Amino acid sequence: MPKTVCLAFTGASGMPYGIRLLECLLAADCRVQLLYSQVAQIVARQEMDLELPGRAAEAQTFFRNRFADQPGTLAVYGREEWFAPVASGSNPPEAMIVCPCTMGTLAAIAQGLASNLIERAADVVLKEGRKLILVPRETPFSAIHLENMLRLSRAGVVILPPNPGFYHHPQNIGDLVDFVVARLLDQIGVEHALMPRWGDSGSEARGDIV
Ligand SMILES: Cc1cc2nc3c(=O)[nH]c(=O)nc-3n(C[C@H](O)[C@H](O)[C@H](O)COP(=O)(O)O)c2cc1C
Repeated sequence: MPKTVCLAFTGASGMPYGIRLLECLLAADCRVQLLYSQVAQIVARQEMDLELPGRAAEAQTFFRNRFADQPGTLAVYGREEWFAPVASGSNPPEAMIVCPCTMGTLAAIAQGLASNLIERAADVVLKEGRKLILVPRETPFSAIHLENMLRLSRAGVVILPPNPGFYHHPQNIGDLVDFVVARLLDQIGVEHALMPRWGDSGSEARGDIV
C-alpha cells in the first residue's frame, strides 16, 4: 500500500533537499500531496534555476514531466485550496514534511495559525496524531526560534535540521543532500538505498571490547 505524504516547500534556503525528497518519495511509489509558498518559488529560482509554476495545475504537469520515470503519484494544491484533502482531519496524510521550513512557517505552525494551506495541513496532521516533520533552516537560531522548536517538539513534531554529517566522506553536494533526505525517509519508514548505513559494511576496524 503506497504511503500518502504531504510535502511542503517554504521559502528557506535548502530547496535542493525538498526537490530531492520529492523525487525519492515518487521513486518509492508514494502518493505525494505537494504544497509550496510564494517565497519557495523565489528560492527555487535563486538556488536551482528552477521556475516553479504559480498555478497548481501547471505545477502538477511540471513535476509529472520532471519525474516521469517514477511510479508515485502527485497532486499539487494552491495556498488557498481549502477543498484539498489535506485541509481536513477527515482525510489526513500519513505524514507531512515541511522541507525546507522557514522560521515564519515554523512559528505559525507552533501557534496553530492555519492561515494558508501549508499551515492548515500541518495543524491537521498534528491534531490527528500523524507524523509531522519540519526541516528548519536558519543560522544562528534566536531564542524565539528555539522556543518555537521546543514547543513543537513537545507536541510530538520531529525537528530535523538539515545538518549533514561528514563521516560518510561526501564527494559532492548531492551526497550532502542525500544524507539529510535519507534521514527524512527513515523517519517515515520509506525504504531507500541513498547511502550505506553506519556499521553495515563490516569493514571498520574492530577495537578491544574493554
Ligand atoms: C533567497 C531567500 C532565502 C531565504 N532564506 C531563509 C532561510 O534560510 N530561513 C528563513 O527562515 N527564512 C528565509 N528567507 C525568508 C523567508 O522566505 C520569508 O520570511 C518568508 O516570508 C517566509 O514565508 P513562507 O514561510 O511562507 O515561505 C529567505 C528568503 C529568500 C528570498
